[in-house]
Amino acid sequence: MNALSRLILGTAFSLTLVACAGGPGTRSPSLYDRLGGQPAITAVVDDFVANVAADKRINAQFANTDIPRLKMLLVEQICAGTGGPCRYTGRDMKSAHAHLKISQADFASLVEDLTRTLDKFKVPAREQNELIAILAPMKSDIVTVK
Ligand code: HEM
Repeated sequence: MNALSRLILGTAFSLTLVACAGGPGTRSPSLYDRLGGQPAITAVVDDFVANVAADKRINAQFANTDIPRLKMLLVEQICAGTGGPCRYTGRDMKSAHAHLKISQADFASLVEDLTRTLDKFKVPAREQNELIAILAPMKSDIVTVK
């Protein structure tokens, strides 16, 4: 084997090692997996909705809401949005919130309630930021009043 073929083979081997370093499928774990999958997301949604229910700034807006259904849809939505094996079966964010007159302040209160839950469950800052970054763009469809 001459020097050139050794170099080519050696390079190919190194590239194979790099490609395999993450095990089968080299993509880094999805946010869904890093959050802890379905059990963790269900626990987060339960605690978050309890925070919202106790939050006098916004809980009146949920007076006529079917809470078990809302929780189920939030789990689906977060699962699907973070790369998990779910399909979101609820309404789009505009239709779901159109009748509610939600303000920027209401939205901020809800994000605060979610953050309190994520802190309680010791979700690391990176995963918290990634989750908030997935939800933040929905704001323009949800906030309808000044
Ligand atoms: C990023 C923020 C938010 C997300 C991801 C979100 C997500 C959802 C989802 C998935 C549903 C169920 C949709 C359906 O019924 O088909 C829903 C319903 C609802 N959301 Fe939100 N929401 C957000 C912000 C807010 C805020 C700020 C409020 C009020 C303070 C709010 C109040 C409600 C209420 C009252 C319902 C039930 C509506 C009904 O039963 O007709 N949401 N939301």
